[in-house]
Amino acid sequence: MQSLAFSWHKQNQKISFVPTMGALHEGHLSLLREGRKTGDKLVLSIYVNPAQFAPTEDLAKYPRDTKGDLAKASDCRVDAVFFPSNEVMYPKGCQTYVEVANVTKGLCGASRPSHFRGVATVVLKLFNIVQPHVAIFGEKDYQQLITIQTMARDLNLPVEIKGMPTVREPDGLALSSRNAYLSKEERIAALSLSQSLKIAKEMAAAEKKDINEILESVKKAIEANGLTKTDYIKICDSETLEELTTLKSPARLLIAAFVGKTRLIDNCGI
Ligand code: PAF
Repeated sequence: MQSLAFSWHKQNQKISFVPTMGALHEGHLSLLREGRKTGDKLVLSIYVNPAQFAPTEDLAKYPRDTKGDLAKASDCRVDAVFFPSNEVMYPKGCQTYVEVANVTKGLCGASRPSHFRGVATVVLKLFNIVQPHVAIFGEKDYQQLITIQTMARDLNLPVEIKGMPTVREPDGLALSSRNAYLSKEERIAALSLSQSLKIAKEMAAAEKKDINEILESVKKAIEANGLTKTDYIKICDSETLEELTTLKSPARLLIAAFVGKTRLIDNCGI
């Protein structure tokens, strides 16, 4: 993959890159379509990265669909799919990790302490292999997007990090590979996440600046169905992810909630 990338650089080809963990859905496809528009060459990586899962998390049962993914990649006119093994990504003796300090502390970083270290490390490794000019990530994983933008800035990486809007089902549910874990009943309950974002947006638009009042309404909306339990609900500065005490622009509402055993996240600008 790296030799191919260097040969494309020699030919002055602009490389767009979409890193994924596979089980591709419309959200990933929107990133690939953007990549197809922005680059001469489009690379997709599929790698379920063990370093970003805690031992108690869903690494073993994370959805995998290589055949389906390759068909979708072909439909999106991907030039190369990088599909490495664990031995290639983490050879024996591997001991170097990337830590992005502040933006990874709260939110998902508080509930999943080693998660963003694993994400930043694998993404930097993938960048070094794929040598992209532009890399595209979904805003659905907003903290991940900010973490990677921060890493790219701090380490002077020669790559533009582009964020793309969350893709939703017609009823509002944010697309996620983990939606596959939901039962019929849980799928309905999961709608409370996107509905609660709407409530917060309306409150902010009506000039309700009391953050606690907004957070309280969001929690009530999420937990009303009895199946959903919030992990966190925060309103943060959109760029630094510092928690806000009064509502001011640019702000982002970020939520994580368990629907049954499945942990889902969602967010929006408010
Ligand atoms: O968002 C994902 O799918 C993963 O966290 C990523 C960026 C591919 C790193 O493993």
